[in-house]
Amino acid sequence: MKTLIHFSILYFVCSMSFAQFDINYEESKVPEFTVPDPLTNFAGEKITTSDDWINKRRPELFEFFENKVYGKVPGDLDSISFKLLEESENALNGKARRKQIEVTLVKNEKSISFTILIYLPKKSTSSPIFLGYNFFGNHSITTDANVIISEAWAMNSEAMNIDEHRLTEASRGLRSHRWAIEKIIDGGFGLATIYYGEIDPDKNDLMDGLHELFYEQGQEKPKNNEWGSLSVWAFGYSRALDYFEKDKNIDTNKVVVFGHSRLGKAALWAGATDQRFAGVISNDSGCGGAALSKRRFGETINVINTSFPHWFCLNFKRYNNNEEELPVDQHQLLALIAPTPIYVASAIDDQWADPKGEFLSAYHASPVYELFDMEGIAANQMPEVHNPIHQSIAYHIREGKHDVTDYDWEQYIKWANEFLKLNQ
Ligand code: GCU
Repeated sequence: MKTLIHFSILYFVCSMSFAQFDINYEESKVPEFTVPDPLTNFAGEKITTSDDWINKRRPELFEFFENKVYGKVPGDLDSISFKLLEESENALNGKARRKQIEVTLVKNEKSISFTILIYLPKKSTSSPIFLGYNFFGNHSITTDANVIISEAWAMNSEAMNIDEHRLTEASRGLRSHRWAIEKIIDGGFGLATIYYGEIDPDKNDLMDGLHELFYEQGQEKPKNNEWGSLSVWAFGYSRALDYFEKDKNIDTNKVVVFGHSRLGKAALWAGATDQRFAGVISNDSGCGGAALSKRRFGETINVINTSFPHWFCLNFKRYNNNEEELPVDQHQLLALIAPTPIYVASAIDDQWADPKGEFLSAYHASPVYELFDMEGIAANQMPEVHNPIHQSIAYHIREGKHDVTDYDWEQYIKWANEFLKLNQ
């Protein structure tokens, strides 16, 4: 009951802040548009082999998304280091091993640190693992009293008992319903999570987080083609993977990057920028994630760039209310991840994220996977609710609202085990 009230309050706050925009939720009002062909390059040439995709088409598409959508990482780190803060062989009632690792990134004599919370099945010596950011601190995903509370800035939230932008004991476990830890461990997987605010606080201030480490003297914001927060969070996912390469209890070839909503957008960009992941999961990622922008259904580029001006690179604003000028669309972001398998998931009551646009993206990315002899989504009709398609591009739509549920996790675990065979 308490949770229900919290959700209604959140929904009310969200709908209020978007009230200034004219949002379309009617299929009949979706504008006519052509889905840009992933297999025709900007010069009009047809791409027919995986080699041509890798050498000719992928680089130009990647360059576009990097410079015009998410923003480039402006250089290399000077160093990265890892420190074991805490571990236990007896977590989750003896089922799991827990580790908390501090990762420190250094650039221009400045540094930033974040903590990865890791649970691993005790039985296995080298586990496949799901990696995902959380919204309100590692301690919010579990009631485990040993999880360290982050000192980073946090968004105030009545539902999460957060005020004055500080995380406290009062939000421990409040987001555990989004993280099916037991199912994940029982399915033979580890789970690693990071509080996303430790990499870049989610506010329109480009003077904090990782951004600031890379600035030259006097610089106050990234250049027009440089990283917005989504790109910073994607970079953070890769740095967690750098740590996994050093941990013998984790199988680095079997890391599935997961993200919900804005963090699903970041997971997709991480999958495109770093091909070491074994799988990429986008849970309700919507606009700027899996959903086709040119449909202008639910949230649009203008809405997202106005409400969250720090998420994308500054060049992306050129497409505010100007989707027709975009030479790409989000199915090509999915295609950039090929041949790494991807899973796109939607929820029927999450019209803001445009479930149909998410599905169509998965469908239109499929020809690129086929070049690698991998099966994507064969039909352009959306499957029924709770009828998942598990292929190299996987898709499901479930009942309910914008959230991560046990149903979602059950599908991800099944796909990773039965289709990707990550536990063999
Ligand atoms: C807002 C935003 C979405 C985003 C979501 C979230 O609703 O408009 O683009 O995905 O927040 O991250 O929860």
